[in-house]
Amino acid sequence: MRHRVFITGTDTDVGKTEVACSLLHLARQKGLSTAALKPIAAGCEFMTNENGTSEWKNADAVRLQQLCSIPLTYSEVNPVALKKGDRATSRRLRRK
Ligand SMILES: Nc1ncnc2c1ncn2[C@@H]1O[C@H](COP(=O)(O)OP(=O)(O)O)[C@@H](O)[C@H]1O
Ligand SMILES: [Mg+2]
Repeated sequence: MRHRVFITGTDTDVGKTEVACSLLHLARQKGLSTAALKPIAAGCEFMTNENGTSEWKNADAVRLQQLCSIPLTYSEVNPVALKKGDRATSRRLRRK
């Protein structure tokens, strides 16, 4: 059976990632396979991957990716990654 959990909060830094990571961790302890999605993340930083490539990543999304039992790329976990202070991009997304 599949379980889908949607976690939301009224602001950034209110504990959404802590709750999500706890649930992913518990699910894995029970032997379930896990996948996480953070569709849009702001505050991304340019990070270097193990294979030497670099991309914009959000630290919370990286934590979620690490707790996926299914191997997912960063962009599969976080398809829209906005760099710090990227207000123009945020406005464009809001208009869509
Ligand atoms: N229940 C809690 N008690 C203490 N610190 C917490 C708690 N939940 C989150 N934090 C801390 O608050 C910060 C932001 O949490 P995070 O889960 O990343 O929030 P969000 O995902 O909403 O941005 C982190 O440093 C985290 O360790
Ligand atoms: Mg956060």
